[in-house]
Order: sequence, then C-alpha cells, then structure tokens
Amino acid sequence: MTLERTFVAIKPDGVQRGLISEILGRFETKGFKLVGLKQLTPSKELAEKHYGVHKDRPFFSGLVDFITSGPVVAMVWEGEGVIASARKLIGATKPLEAEPGTIRGDLAVNIGRNVIHGSDGPDTAAFEIDLWFQKNELVDWTPSDQSWRVE
Ligand code: RTP
Ligand code: MG
Repeated sequence: MTLERTFVAIKPDGVQRGLISEILGRFETKGFKLVGLKQLTPSKELAEKHYGVHKDRPFFSGLVDFITSGPVVAMVWEGEGVIASARKLIGATKPLEAEPGTIRGDLAVNIGRNVIHGSDGPDTAAFEIDLWFQKNELVDWTPSDQSWRVE
C-alpha cells in the first residue's frame, strides 16, 4: 500500500455559501485521513504561486482576485490513491459537466465559482502542500478504526 497526501482547498465561494462541512464530509466519510486543516485568506503572493501554471491564461488575474477575496479552508488528506480519488470526488472543472454525486456536480454551476480545488498529480500535491502548510502544521496520527478501513 502506497500512502499519498494531497492538497484540497474550499474556495471562498464554498466558505461564503456555508458548504465547509458538506465538502469536508465527503472526504471524511469516504475514509481518507485529515492531516492538515486551517482557514486563511490567501495573500496575492500565495495565490499567484498556487496558480502559477495558469499565469499566462486570460482568466489568471480574475482567478487570483477571487481566491484572495475571502477565507479559504486549506486541507491535506492522506490515504491510498488519495490524489486521483480526490479529483474524482471533486468532479470536472466545469460544474455543469461534472457528474452528479461529485462535489462540483452537486454544489456548483459556474467554472469561476467551482467551490473547491484539488491537486492534479503527485508533483503538484507535494508542491502545494509545501506552499500552503508548514511541516509542523501536519499531524501524523492513526485513526482508532484504521483496521476497519483498510486491511
Ligand atoms: P483547480 O486547480 O482550481 O482545482 O481546478 P482544476 O484543476 O479543475 O482546473 P484548472 O484547469 O487547474 O483551472 C484552475 C481554475 O481556474 C478557473 N478557470 N477558469 N474561465 C475559464 O476558462 C477558466 N478556466 C479555468 C477555474 O475556477 C478552475 O478551477
Ligand atoms: Mg488545477
């Protein structure tokens, strides 16, 4: 079993719409382990680094303005296959194309207000966890029901 960690963030629209518990619960009830959690309003510098891959896209400045417009709930989830699985739980970037049952499919309609971010691969996950969290903000722990989740 290869344990992975991924970075997930509830965007300002998700926080303002009161969707924190609904979204966080999708990962918790799936069976992944929460190892990092905090609420912060990202600085412009943090947002620009986070979305640096999109810096030449026409939507970049609007995206940075949006993500810095209010509190974001930043999380690190751990588990086998969690990076790809989180992306499946999140659903397609365009919420109208996201399958029902996914977070974006159930909770959003607009690409610019798609409520959640998730790392798109192992390298991105490592980069984003390091960008958003200090090492001492991540908690190693063993859930007491671990043996009921995995062999
Ligand atoms: P995210 O990074 O936020 O998890 O979203 P994603 O991987 O599904 O999509 P990505 O291609 O990385 O795009 C990042 C965010 O930019 C906004 N976007 N707007 N107007 C547009 O054409 C457009 N394209 C992307 C979305 O909010 C998307 O989540
Ligand atoms: Mg992305």
